[in-house]
Amino acid sequence: NASRSMNIVWHKCSVEKSDRQELLQQKGCVIWITGLSGSGKSTLACALTRALHSREKLTYVLDGDNVRHGLNSDLTFQPEDRAENIRRIGEVAKLFSDAGVICIASVISPYRKDRDACRSILPDGDFVEVFMDMPLCVCEARDPKGLYKLARAGKIKGFTGVDDPYVPPLNSEIVIQQEG
Ligand code: PPS
Repeated sequence: NASRSMNIVWHKCSVEKSDRQELLQQKGCVIWITGLSGSGKSTLACALTRALHSREKLTYVLDGDNVRHGLNSDLTFQPEDRAENIRRIGEVAKLFSDAGVICIASVISPYRKDRDACRSILPDGDFVEVFMDMPLCVCEARDPKGLYKLARAGKIKGFTGVDDPYVPPLNSEIVIQQEG
């Protein structure tokens, strides 16, 4: 257990995950979408939440860009801050899934050990990793926010895929590739 707090005891309530799942008629889980900037993570997350919502499933999207506006607004893109970003999003996603919600996290999450750590805090089968396996050149050609251009011009330092690494998953449950 990574907790640094002392003298804390886990408090169990009489309403449990199974009760909430029963109420919602669904299984709480985490769908973790990882990939380069511009690989389509947020687009997929939005399409998925919409499709599930229209089937009366309760979902919630944790998008890296959005969470960095609030909970993680104190974090930079330095490796240790990216790790903390992923750790927090993993913990929040775990709470959502415990609430019975289908939580969709769309975050670059470039380092394998951080993604695997998020998987390890969830019950087996509750963490579904989706790898957006798009070549860098495709993401860069799309450049929806103009960030690759700024990174190539040296105006953004440590941009994933340009001068910061993306370590691809080895055993994702789902891999999304380009057609053709
Ligand atoms: S991480 O690596 O998982 O902590 O990143 P994440 O929280 O998903 O945030 C990624 C979005 O932040 C913008 N951005 C950067 N991305 C990568 N590297 C650097 N240096 C950077 N600076 C800003 C970018 O818009 C990412 O959004 P997406 O949706 O991935 O394009």
